[in-house]
Amino acid sequence: MTPVASPKSTSTFVRALKCRECGHEYPKAPIHVCEFCFGPLEVAYDYDGIKRKLTRETIAQRPTNMWRYTELLPLDGPVTVGEHVGWTPLVRADRLAKKVGVRELWIKNDAVSYPTLSFKDRVVSVALSKAMEFGFDTVACASTGNLANSVAANAAAAGLKAYIFIPEDLEPSKILGTTVYGARVVGIRGTYDEVNRLCSEISGKYGWGFANINLRPFYAEGSKSQAFEILEQLGWRAPDHVIAPMAGGSLITKIRKAFEETDKLGLSDSASRTKLHGAQAAGCAPIVEAVRAGRELIKPVKQPCTIAKSLAIGNPADGYYAVKAIVQSGGYAAAPSDPEIVSAIRLLAETEGIFTETAGGVTLGAALKLVGEGRIGADSSVVLCVTGQGLKTTDPLVPVLPRPRTIAAKLAEFDALVASDSKDS
Ligand SMILES: Cc1ncc(COP(=O)(O)O)c(C=O)c1O
Ligand SMILES: [Zn+2]
Repeated sequence: MTPVASPKSTSTFVRALKCRECGHEYPKAPIHVCEFCFGPLEVAYDYDGIKRKLTRETIAQRPTNMWRYTELLPLDGPVTVGEHVGWTPLVRADRLAKKVGVRELWIKNDAVSYPTLSFKDRVVSVALSKAMEFGFDTVACASTGNLANSVAANAAAAGLKAYIFIPEDLEPSKILGTTVYGARVVGIRGTYDEVNRLCSEISGKYGWGFANINLRPFYAEGSKSQAFEILEQLGWRAPDHVIAPMAGGSLITKIRKAFEETDKLGLSDSASRTKLHGAQAAGCAPIVEAVRAGRELIKPVKQPCTIAKSLAIGNPADGYYAVKAIVQSGGYAAAPSDPEIVSAIRLLAETEGIFTETAGGVTLGAALKLVGEGRIGADSSVVLCVTGQGLKTTDPLVPVLPRPRTIAAKLAEFDALVASDSKDS
């Protein structure tokens, strides 16, 4: 089938911004907090209008990128940033399924996301397209690494100036993968939560478009595209379980919203019954701890300490909503230790040929725990959200992976090596 062009305007379906707590509505603007109750704002849509227009067949005819679900994304004008983002592979993982102990296992592989190899490209394409609509010439973000990469790259491609704020001790590849795009990168001596607090002040003072602060209600909607793709790639059949990594808690909250939306629109019929499970590293697991303690409220972690730096947010902005999404779906949460994260990275690579960053190790590590605890049954279908690329976080693997054996360029030396291999096996 020849793809037809992406629909260029969605203004009719994006109604307003709405407070998640008191329901007060606001016009579409770069704001993120309710003036009345300080609740977070989110995008409200005209679902009746969308239902009349959006069918599985219409979607199927569109180009294979995240904008095939454009009516459910919050732009009022054309896509100006990140037109090619999305539609990453959903890989059937039978070899890994045997190791994990489930009937059907799939990897949603955002480790190969265009252009910066993490799911953050989805949220950034929305945030920066929206920044262009609002007329910002400078965009910015507070980041644990992947958002930094994506804002820097997409801003460069759009001709926007970018200021990027990160904890100064991020992985070298994450830093290099930001500075290369010419962004102004500022390393803060402190945790991500301290970076974020500073950015809230800067955002108020400088009037820039901060992807995850004043543009957050729009930005966060981009994560829904991962959930829409999972369903469509499964033929609109909802899996029994989805496991997602959590930092600020936005991705998992938006997967839940997306599943409810597709049911409401008749695109799927049981996606809201899919159990959503959250994964964090044991060294920074405020959301997991709340779920496992049966608490709604998050106790912030003051000093995160884990190799999964991309998930190291001690005081997650959407933590409360992430807990709700997990509990309402009937899911649970788990937090693997750093050694378990490293083992999971190796297991995924060795069974499926997929190299994930530490966040993906957290997701698979959590899956193993949840199956072990009986939270996920052996007869289930499970999707793991692998959200970032292994080449960005190689440091924890260096001490545990074997070094290549070195020989002279002589057949005899290779023969000896093979002979010693067959003795070992
Ligand atoms: C690779 C990766 N996966 C998952 C997440 C979690 O995203 P959220 O903050 O939406 O919970 C992040 C956040 O930075 C990330 O970098
Ligand atoms: Zn409110």
